[in-house]
Amino acid sequence: MKGIILAGGLGTRLYPLTFATNKHLLPVYDKPMVYYPIHTLVRAGITEVIVVTGGPHAGDFIRVLKNGKEWGLTHLEYAYQENEGGIAQALSLCEDFADGGSIAVILGDNTTDADISQPVGDFEQGAMVFLRSVSDPHRFGVPVFAAGDPSRIIAIEEKPAQPKSQYAVTGLYLYDSRVFEYIRRTKPSGRGELEITDVNNMYIEAGQLHWAKLEGFWSDAGTFESLFRSGLYWAQKAGWRDNIES
Ligand code: G1P
Repeated sequence: MKGIILAGGLGTRLYPLTFATNKHLLPVYDKPMVYYPIHTLVRAGITEVIVVTGGPHAGDFIRVLKNGKEWGLTHLEYAYQENEGGIAQALSLCEDFADGGSIAVILGDNTTDADISQPVGDFEQGAMVFLRSVSDPHRFGVPVFAAGDPSRIIAIEEKPAQPKSQYAVTGLYLYDSRVFEYIRRTKPSGRGELEITDVNNMYIEAGQLHWAKLEGFWSDAGTFESLFRSGLYWAQKAGWRDNIES
């Protein structure tokens, strides 16, 4: 399986931090943010990767990642997303790279210490999403479970005002090659983007969406609070303890 890291966007929620570089190159404790999704893929045995980026600082990725060898990658390529067309539009740029095979997709601002080796190894067809119980599901894609059958997802709602479960759909997905056909069928949402949630709902309609709970730490890092929380987690995991005096 090949890996796709989506690291575009302008990072406007993190202005002024993202005036000078891409969000995914900001520090999360002692590493650039994008290191974490790369490590998640490499740990699952995925070493052929494409990074989709965009915006004014796309060139910064070369300085940080170079050819990817230092990071455990055997192949690294880049794609450039011209506008802020959304996650599904960014993914559509990777059809040639996928070359008819299955893909693991991870958002460049998601950091986790979950080990996805097994689901990656077992994956055959359809799509797989990874769920995480969170205190603020309205910020995410949220699964709706069948009444009377909590193992079956009947829909995913994108940032619902009234979430129907406590789970976030994390930014980590496995897809078979049909994903590109499904993306072609999506239409821009209210925020003008091709939504990955619409693609996942097409897999649900086809009876082909699988899910698993993500074990371990998981957070996005696209807001000041989540960026800070992610850095704190990885610092503490590395042994950092301090009592900051005022
Ligand atoms: C995106 C997806 C959302 C998912 C989230 C995970 O949200 O649209 O479904 O739960 O990533 O980080 P965005 O970061 O675009 O707000």
